[in-house]
Amino acid sequence: MAYGLLKGKRGIIFGALNEQSIAWKVAQKVVEEGATITLTNTPLALRMGELDALAKETGAEVIPADATSIEDLENVFRRSMEVLGGPIDFVLHSIGMSPNVRKKRAYDDLDYGMLEKTLDISAVSFHKMLQTAKKLDAIAEGGSVLALSYIAAQRTFCGYNDMADAKSLLESIARSFGLIYGHEKGVRINTISQSPTVTTAGSGVDGMSNLLHFAEKIAPLGNADAEECANYCVVMFSDLTRKVTMQNLFHDGGFSTTGMSVEAMEQYLKGGLDEIEK
Ligand code: NAI
Repeated sequence: MAYGLLKGKRGIIFGALNEQSIAWKVAQKVVEEGATITLTNTPLALRMGELDALAKETGAEVIPADATSIEDLENVFRRSMEVLGGPIDFVLHSIGMSPNVRKKRAYDDLDYGMLEKTLDISAVSFHKMLQTAKKLDAIAEGGSVLALSYIAAQRTFCGYNDMADAKSLLESIARSFGLIYGHEKGVRINTISQSPTVTTAGSGVDGMSNLLHFAEKIAPLGNADAEECANYCVVMFSDLTRKVTMQNLFHDGGFSTTGMSVEAMEQYLKGGLDEIEK
């Protein structure tokens, strides 16, 4: 059910790759709620061809951009203001990639060139996006900017590798830039820390299906899926959250504040406490 929460708002969605992508669901939801949008992803992602279907469905223009390139980002903001007819009300950063994870380099055997890429693509791109938008004065007074994060920024999860460091930096950028942009233009900057979700980026994480199962057993409300994440993004882009900024907002069914649940304990006992007690 749509509520018209984003009626008349203009947005940019970074990072929709295929139907599984969290950004894909966000694009569908924000348009359902009355927004007009542009979509952007890397030329490589666009060549895969799936984004055309979403562009058609949402009536969005697709603008190719590598989010680590200032020139590309300038083009995204300029072109979006042109086609949407004014300053941008909301932006979603839904971008993550670690060459170390892809190449299965362990955290105690990182390739530092690859680490720089991880940080640039997954975190510094958020700063570049905000700085570019601010210099172009591309975000409207009271606008809302979101990036997607994961709890490995606060607590260590085996297999998440250097993406954990990227997420810590991403969340820090939201706080640091939020102070400046909020003060000068009332722009809100937050991160949403999402449950593990089955997507292309998610599947790259070592032991993802076990992690999904574990988180599902721990979280009292169960894991949040991509569509539920999109609903939360809608609320954060809407005028109902005008005073929420510089926050990392957990959207994880309660996982982040649960130590142990009855379900998880039962599972653990099934898995061989006898062995441990011997
Ligand atoms: P996805 O694979 O669908 O999205 C990742 C996107 O990043 C892709 O569209 C990809 O083309 C884009 N990208 C990579 N390099 C780029 C670059 N240089 N410039 C512009 N775009 C680039 O996967 P998903 O899961 O939807 O990821 C979206 C965000 O959500 C990421 O930040 C991810 O870390 C975060 N997240 C995902 C979780 C999961 O379990 N899937 C959990 C918590 C957060």
